[in-house]
Amino acid sequence: MPDMSTTVTSALALGERTFLRPYRHEDADEFTAAARASRELHRPWLFPPEQPAAYSAYVGRLLAGADRAGFLVCARHDGRIAGFININNIVQGALRGGALGYGAFAHAAGRGLMGEGLRLVMGQAFGPLGLHRLEAAVQPANAASLALLRRAGFRREGFSPDYLFIDGAWRDHERWAITAEMVPDGG
Ligand SMILES: CC(C)(COP(=O)(O)OP(=O)(O)OC[C@H]1O[C@@H](n2cnc3c(N)ncnc32)[C@H](O)[C@@H]1OP(=O)(O)O)[C@@H](O)C(=O)NCCC(=O)NCCS
Repeated sequence: MPDMSTTVTSALALGERTFLRPYRHEDADEFTAAARASRELHRPWLFPPEQPAAYSAYVGRLLAGADRAGFLVCARHDGRIAGFININNIVQGALRGGALGYGAFAHAAGRGLMGEGLRLVMGQAFGPLGLHRLEAAVQPANAASLALLRRAGFRREGFSPDYLFIDGAWRDHERWAITAEMVPDGG
């Protein structure tokens, strides 16, 4: 059981049932154990790090530059990591946007925690991070991911054949996005 006094005080945003906090290198064991226990939920869409060395490299990349922001979605009732939402490929200039990557962990999935976490991440993106646009690319058969985006107010912008190399092949993706104007209260 995580130490709630340190986890909640490091929260970046607080919701009714979840809070966001940054990734830490010391989360390696909890994160990778949860990832290993979530294979059935994640495949074939997602391949998060399952071993501490891979986690360490992944967190190093997330913390290294201004082009990514990573958030752990944690459940308030026990402080455990319920899932994660990353904003990748952040571009400033005239675009001010980033691309989402996310996954729930099996023990916490299907209870609305990721939906709340995504709203908190939208608040961070359109608030302190100063972004204007979040996008997400989703394979057409990934119903749970499409439902999450739809519930959060994203709109389908199009379809890109052979868009991302996932699980050994170039996969078609639906392109979804939301802009700051679409969430007047900031998410
Ligand atoms: C996509 C994914 C992150 C969604 O996570 P999730 O845990 O299902 O999302 P939520 O926490 O918002 O839960 C949604 C479900 O909980 C239900 N739910 C239960 N209690 C709820 C509550 N209090 N509030 C809102 N929803 C609630 C919702 O009705 C919804 O069910 P439905 O879609 O069957 O109608 C998860 O399925 C996942 O990790 N998939 C594999 C990885 C992946 O595809 N990543 C994205 C690649 S593009």
